[in-house]
Amino acid sequence: MHSNMMSSPVRSWRNRGQLLFFSGLLFAGWSSLAEADTVDGKAVFKKNCAPCHGVDGRARTPAARKLKVKDLTESKTTDAEIEKQIVEGKKDDHGVQKMPEFGDKLSKDEIGALIGFVKSLRKTN
Ligand code: HEC
Repeated sequence: MHSNMMSSPVRSWRNRGQLLFFSGLLFAGWSSLAEADTVDGKAVFKKNCAPCHGVDGRARTPAARKLKVKDLTESKTTDAEIEKQIVEGKKDDHGVQKMPEFGDKLSKDEIGALIGFVKSLRKTN
């Protein structure tokens, strides 16, 4: 009887791992708002970009595959191209927005930090 009582809560916690992971992302986003004076590219990325690109930039989520999000670790774009992509977003050939524009949501410092972070993802390969 004792062993049954112990094993079932453990199993249900494991199932919640994914949920905990996503609420962790959300929390990281909120706490980055509280520390606005030092811009942490990783935190800005987690908050604004990870929902599509994944925290590691590899875009290995079902939603990302559907949107054809590019794997940032294999990206070869220049600083200027990364900046343009962040500021203007990206539309497909039919004018459908694939990546939202962040030009009005992020400060210049945040965008600058993001460019550095996006490139740092490549070195982890
Ligand atoms: C709604 C989903 C979504 C969000 C949020 C998003 N992206 Fe994207 N991103 C995409 C898609 C889709 C593409 C591929 C577009 C294409 O076909 O060029 C892309 C492409 C890119 C590229 C170009 C990569 C390459 O090799 O061409 C960069 C750089 C990039 N994103 C950076 C970012 C950054 C930084 C953020 C956060 C500020 C962000 N993205 C947020 C969906 C998203």
